[in-house]
Amino acid sequence: MRTYAIVVFGATGFTGRLAAAYLTEHLPAGARWAIAGRSARKLEAVRDGLDLPDLPILVADSSDPAALAKVAASTRVLITTVGPYLKYGEALVKACAEAGTDYLDLAAEQEFVDTMSVKYRDTATTSGARIVHSAGFDSVPHDLGTYFTVGHLPEDVPITVDGVVQTSADISGGTYHTVVNYLSRLRQWRTAARARAAVEGQPEGRVSRNPGGRPTRRFGLWLVPFPGVDGQNIAYSGRLLDRYGPDFTYRHWIGTRRFPAAAGIIGLVAALLVGAQIRPLRSVLLKLRDPGAGPTAEVRARSTFTVTFHGTGGDRHVVCRVSGGDPGYTETAKILGEAAMSLAFDDLPRTAGPVTPAAAMGDALIDRLVSAGITFELVEARQSEPRD
Ligand SMILES: NC(=O)c1ccc[n+]([C@@H]2O[C@H](COP(=O)([O-])OP(=O)(O)OC[C@H]3O[C@@H](n4cnc5c(N)ncnc54)[C@H](OP(=O)(O)O)[C@@H]3O)[C@@H](O)[C@H]2O)c1
Repeated sequence: MRTYAIVVFGATGFTGRLAAAYLTEHLPAGARWAIAGRSARKLEAVRDGLDLPDLPILVADSSDPAALAKVAASTRVLITTVGPYLKYGEALVKACAEAGTDYLDLAAEQEFVDTMSVKYRDTATTSGARIVHSAGFDSVPHDLGTYFTVGHLPEDVPITVDGVVQTSADISGGTYHTVVNYLSRLRQWRTAARARAAVEGQPEGRVSRNPGGRPTRRFGLWLVPFPGVDGQNIAYSGRLLDRYGPDFTYRHWIGTRRFPAAAGIIGLVAALLVGAQIRPLRSVLLKLRDPGAGPTAEVRARSTFTVTFHGTGGDRHVVCRVSGGDPGYTETAKILGEAAMSLAFDDLPRTAGPVTPAAAMGDALIDRLVSAGITFELVEARQSEPRD
């Protein structure tokens, strides 16, 4: 019997504080939970801010495996917002995999997800721990939106889905640091992806993939390929879930109405990519934003996201849409909190080891997010035009 249903590790950070505040408002009455981090003093300040004087505090540094093992063993579900995950994350994945504790993070670092999936697959599968990476805006709306779209297409046919992200949001200092550090490790990223592909392979008789793309104009928008963890996680859902059919392809895009905006996105990514490779430039880039702070409540209140999914399977074409408010923080804290409550309290399909939100929680998490104000809708359904 575990002491807590849910522990939030990193509750003193920008996103961790929001996740703790969300749980304070939405946990079922009587649910036992705790906040965790490396500084008792800062955790006490967070607890004061939540106005929960009896909320337990667990102190652990991510470099202290014994302390992390104690935290992992104390709870059924552990949320961690301690990033960059490549720097701080591994010991906690190991602790949860060994303790059979369900684990949720916000990792957008594909190299981290790939490496953890290889190293702790067997341990987590044996202990029963569900290891769910990228349980925030990356990758839940995309992963569940694709799952929702596939559910509106025929079974046992090849399926293609294009997901187009449109957002007006800003990012936090912690996310900015994670992105810059991550872009400096392209070689390690490719090595980790190859190692994972060698271990995982494709399911018997089926294939699921996330090929790259080129900037293009489709669906009335300028589309820029959106490489990274979302497409990879969705392709993994396609491998885990037979419902995605014998031949599943997902492409992930950023969409914008104006060509100069598309060109600006390409220019910004190229500048960060080049700057991140050169150590002195990387130091300058990292000094541009400090970790610990993020968009103000006013900025978050005006921010929105929409992901539109164009899916084709057999003779049917559907357009589905997932939309909500500020993706990076307000909605991420909501998604993370609801995912933790889903793992802790919902009747879910039996899974273990590295799993995606769609495979681990699927319909139960969609229902929760809809109740929490995130929209999932079928916008259009028609016979698809025959392919050339
Ligand atoms: N993918 C998404 O959708 C998404 C959305 C939002 C955030 N994120 C990711 O989430 C992570 C956190 O972002 P953020 O903006 O909340 O960052 P942040 O404000 O800098 O918070 C980082 C947290 O990590 C803690 N920490 C740092 N070093 C530690 C250590 N050695 N041991 C224990 N705790 C330690 C910090 O504790 P102290 O307070 O004691 O320093 C703080 O609680 C980033 O990796 C970001 O990329 C992802």
